[in-house]
Amino acid sequence: MVKNAPSLPPIRIPFCRPDYGKQERAAFEEAIAGGRLEGGGVQTQACEAILQDMTGAKRVLITPSCTAALEMMALALELGPGDEVIMPAFTFVSTANAFALRGATPVFVDIDPLTMNLDIEAVRAAITPKTRAIMVVHYAGVGCEMEAFETLCAEHELVLLEDAAQAVGAYWNGKALGSFGSMAAFSFHHTKNITCGEGGALLINQNDLIKPSEFIRDKGTDRADFLRGQVSKYEWRSLGSSYLLSELAAAVLLGQLQREAALTQARMQIWQSYDAHFGRSNSIRTPHIPTAATHNAHIYAIRFENQTLRDACIAFLRKNGIIAAPHYVALHLTPAGKQFGRASGPMKHTIDAAQTLLRLPLYSAMGEEEVTLVIESLSAFLHQNGLAEA
Ligand SMILES: Cc1ncc(COP(=O)(O)O)c(C=O)c1O
Repeated sequence: MVKNAPSLPPIRIPFCRPDYGKQERAAFEEAIAGGRLEGGGVQTQACEAILQDMTGAKRVLITPSCTAALEMMALALELGPGDEVIMPAFTFVSTANAFALRGATPVFVDIDPLTMNLDIEAVRAAITPKTRAIMVVHYAGVGCEMEAFETLCAEHELVLLEDAAQAVGAYWNGKALGSFGSMAAFSFHHTKNITCGEGGALLINQNDLIKPSEFIRDKGTDRADFLRGQVSKYEWRSLGSSYLLSELAAAVLLGQLQREAALTQARMQIWQSYDAHFGRSNSIRTPHIPTAATHNAHIYAIRFENQTLRDACIAFLRKNGIIAAPHYVALHLTPAGKQFGRASGPMKHTIDAAQTLLRLPLYSAMGEEEVTLVIESLSAFLHQNGLAEA
């Protein structure tokens, strides 16, 4: 007989909840009325224009996911067996999988313990004659030290890439994240600040990568040239796949992008409420924002002394109906990470973050009462465990 799981109270505060409003509904209706829901139509073009305007990227192609945009990077750069791409071990699987799919090797390095972004000295030590690219990941929408990475890439003739999955609407020294690397990828997944359920974008900042990327998105064909009237028929030009986002999803994305400033501002208020309460704690670690970074309030993450406390906090909050979430599993320790990648150097800070980090619920439609409940519940847990300041 299967025993019932211990009953938990209903969820009062989810970890995230997208905020779809009138604008998204109107754009969705317009897309259906237009009768053409395949990708590349007016909604797609409008999203790409907004993203281009927002970031200053030379060309933006919206895609079915950030994962797809990362795969497109590997194809556009013609990476393959024998090539290495340096990246943090503290990241989502897609950052590595996209390159492993082409036969290239993800080389995992450690992170900075304050920002959880790539540690530039660990990157420097990991460069070999096989290194082709450095992939920075802007954790929590907080920018990596981009000038330093630009210099390092220039010194070693490496391609700079950005996994900006979490970084829509965030800046480094006033310049949009996603506009530094030769290419960058955004995510519009359900959990992100701007979402259409599943979606992403490839940002291209280098002219000679625009055309190959267009071919790749359209099954390896020059269909985009055909639609612009530049060729009389379209044909197979390169390797590629089906990386166009449906117009239905693009319509929802358009509504979200039009409200980007308001959605980010609403998140920022919640982020700041959390920080006002916990930011000066000496017993838990709270976000560190470098002065050059303008972040987008994507994540408010706290870190405990050890995993036992972190896991106890998850259980305590859950009993209060609150969902708080750990984040990445250290990639170099996963079965596929070991099979397809390799670790370079010690991974102390990656392992620490994987074991001790906890993300608090954060979404633009979160009401004051909900924020207060999270703050009170977390404060109660800290008190109970002797972690609250006197
Ligand atoms: C750093 C990073 N890269 C890539 C992805 C994949 O994004 P998507 O779900 O849009 O493919 C994520 C998803 O959370 C992520 O956090």
